[in-house]
Amino acid sequence: MDLQSSWGVIKNHPLLTHLETAANNLSPRPDHELQNGLFGAVMPPQIQLCFSHRLRAEHQHQEVRGDGRRRLLGTPGLIENSKQHCQTEMGKAWVCPTVRQTLLQIAHDPTLDHEYLPVLGFPEFTRAATELALGRESRAVIENRAGGVHTVGGTGAVRIGAEFLWRWYNTSSPSPIAVYIAFPQWDSLRCIFQDAGFTEIRPYHYWDTVRLAVAIEEFLEVLESAPDCSIVVLHAPEETGLTPKQWEEVARVMGRKRLFPFFDVPAQGLASGDLDRDAWALRHFVAQGFELFCAQSFSKTFGLYDERVGNLIVVARDNETLVGIRSQLQKQVMGTWATPASLGARVITTVLNNPALLNKWKQSLRMLAEKIMLIREKLKQKLRILGTPGCWDHLTAQSGTRSFTGLLPSQVAFLEKHKHIYLLANGQVSVCSINSHNLDYVAQSINEAVSSTAGRAQGLSWAEME
Ligand SMILES: Cc1ncc(COP(=O)(O)O)c(C=O)c1O
Repeated sequence: MDLQSSWGVIKNHPLLTHLETAANNLSPRPDHELQNGLFGAVMPPQIQLCFSHRLRAEHQHQEVRGDGRRRLLGTPGLIENSKQHCQTEMGKAWVCPTVRQTLLQIAHDPTLDHEYLPVLGFPEFTRAATELALGRESRAVIENRAGGVHTVGGTGAVRIGAEFLWRWYNTSSPSPIAVYIAFPQWDSLRCIFQDAGFTEIRPYHYWDTVRLAVAIEEFLEVLESAPDCSIVVLHAPEETGLTPKQWEEVARVMGRKRLFPFFDVPAQGLASGDLDRDAWALRHFVAQGFELFCAQSFSKTFGLYDERVGNLIVVARDNETLVGIRSQLQKQVMGTWATPASLGARVITTVLNNPALLNKWKQSLRMLAEKIMLIREKLKQKLRILGTPGCWDHLTAQSGTRSFTGLLPSQVAFLEKHKHIYLLANGQVSVCSINSHNLDYVAQSINEAVSSTAGRAQGLSWAEME
């Protein structure tokens, strides 16, 4: 597929013009009257947009009540459930054994210093991370037109990617560029794109909440009707449940309409247990000749949530374009976090570049993925044994760290209010938060929630949900 470069404009501008254009394109300052002090009038509506803030507020409420069950689906409950942590049987954040070993090794390294890292991060880290996602044999890697930027978690990668796109993507478009975000991530990702400057942000669905299955036709319809050159955030492709054939169709439509793919990959390897298989969709797009961004996170896969390690992968049409994009991103990073933190990236770089450690890490990922699949199976069985109304096959038809349960908003509210089990309002649950200690309680609670709800047990359209 011969897709035209989306970045022609970058190559043609000398540095000074870049800066001027970028400065002129910054979000206009909101025209608020600052009646309540310097910030009072501006802050509340922005904060309420973020889902995690709502959870944090509720979490604090739970802390005050000291309710013993608040930790049930996460430790400490709400926030972690929203962040989809991988947890141990004891409800603690899972720590990859290879990480422990590598940390000890690093701590005893006499050559270690605490010098600033390069602005774009360790080249060894971004190279190894990019190859992990795209594959060493990727044409984009071999042709030196794919590269990474070490970011503050996957979230930081989305953020600087969004900011870059707002400044540089298709700048000659007479109308605002539309950004499409999948509904499950609507709250969190919309915040980022909005904050970066985008005004035309639209939701899409890939999951049919009535049939409890992938809604490929609906997804394709949205892509067909999107304005040409829109940006589409393809979130957690490893977990959406689309088959390779369906991804091929998505890529065909996106190529024809010149839609820009922005992948968000938070858990490569945790859906199927196989790193290559989980990267299939991303690699297919690259093989088809797309230019794209991919926000890669290592929080879940290494259990390194607090180290905030991410990588913004850029795939460009040629090396010259890649160099231009990375130089712009470098400026953005310098004005945002200046240089990245090192420890988490050191650990990951060590593991990815050492065949023995790499094997051990892959084995841990496989075990974790199997545990997630087993929990899905057990929950389904328990619900069946309890005679819970509805069909629960969709729990095992999906894979990965999160799952659509098909629960109605009223049932989610019931679980929250009466059982202190916290799901997303759309019924999504972090499967990793369920373990053998709380499985019975979770199943029993879902059974009560569903049984006590008059009318349909499952199945509400997105429109009804909203
Ligand atoms: C949907 C999604 N995207 C991205 C991330 C990456 O997060 P982080 O910024 O911790 O790397 C996560 C983490 O749970 C996630 O759930």
